[in-house]
Amino acid sequence: MTVTTGPRVELEFDARLDRRENVADGVLRLTFTRVDGDAFDPWEPGAHVDLVLGTDLVRQYSLCGDPADRDVLRVAVLDVPDGRGGSRFVHERLTEGSTVRLRGPRNTFPLLSARRYVFVAGGIGITPLLPMVRAAHAAGADWRLLYGGRTRAAMAFGADLAREYGDRVALHPQDEVGLLDLDALPADPGEGDLVYCCGPEPLIAAVEERAAGWPPGTLRVERFAPREAAPGGGAFDVELAETGVTVHVPEGRSVLEAVEDAGVQVLSSCREGTCGTCETPVLDGVPDHRDSLLTDEERASGEMMMICVSRAHTPRLVLEL
Ligand code: FES
Repeated sequence: MTVTTGPRVELEFDARLDRRENVADGVLRLTFTRVDGDAFDPWEPGAHVDLVLGTDLVRQYSLCGDPADRDVLRVAVLDVPDGRGGSRFVHERLTEGSTVRLRGPRNTFPLLSARRYVFVAGGIGITPLLPMVRAAHAAGADWRLLYGGRTRAAMAFGADLAREYGDRVALHPQDEVGLLDLDALPADPGEGDLVYCCGPEPLIAAVEERAAGWPPGTLRVERFAPREAAPGGGAFDVELAETGVTVHVPEGRSVLEAVEDAGVQVLSSCREGTCGTCETPVLDGVPDHRDSLLTDEERASGEMMMICVSRAHTPRLVLEL
């Protein structure tokens, strides 16, 4: 089945949980196959899928398996008892044989070609980086992985990575050696160097601080949770170029909500600016970006916006919807 979303179409299907394994303290690896027996769509390192766990419970998880194996999709889910319910649902309710609706895969964190990579993972942030590490290694690139976690036993895939790739991998269990050593990051990365980081907000913020003087685009990050939202944001109008409708977006309401109120269906998932599902081309006007995934260069170009959270700097925006 396909879901139409303004200019885009996305695949949605039922998958069966074939295997549920504990791969670290509090971390389950889930292996899905398609119920209809078909192969999954192709995906590349950095991609994620939506698990539709309930009407208002849709969560994004990075794919951590092998993109060449189209028969299965693998994700790893950290149990967060005081989280928003997705991981609890997965850990408590999904058993082998369960059927789950999946959407995607979708990639907002692609692995770009580079001469040299540094991968920086905090905790479950290792998941999108796992296929990246394998792809970088297979491509013969120069790469290193800095991987921090609370304890060695909580660091999913850490021992396997260290065994397979030796001193390219630096493990930092916090209870043994303290926090990740960000001094190990290149002070002055050159053209052709890329740094990929995924993990909790304090880690990403610390790496972003280090990256302040790096060439634009060197640092690529993926967040699990939205950045702190900018306050306020007044009303403006949005013209939907394909639908021919103009929608008023009042203060306190998102573009996505206003567009939905007008009866236009747009695909969305996280509704908090982290997943990329509602990314929409901007044809005119200046967006006020409030998402947590576009790069500085993408923001500056003003060509795309996440309509679930972003607003307008101009009285009117024209969107390709
Ligand atoms: S719905 Fe996830 S970024 Fe907008």
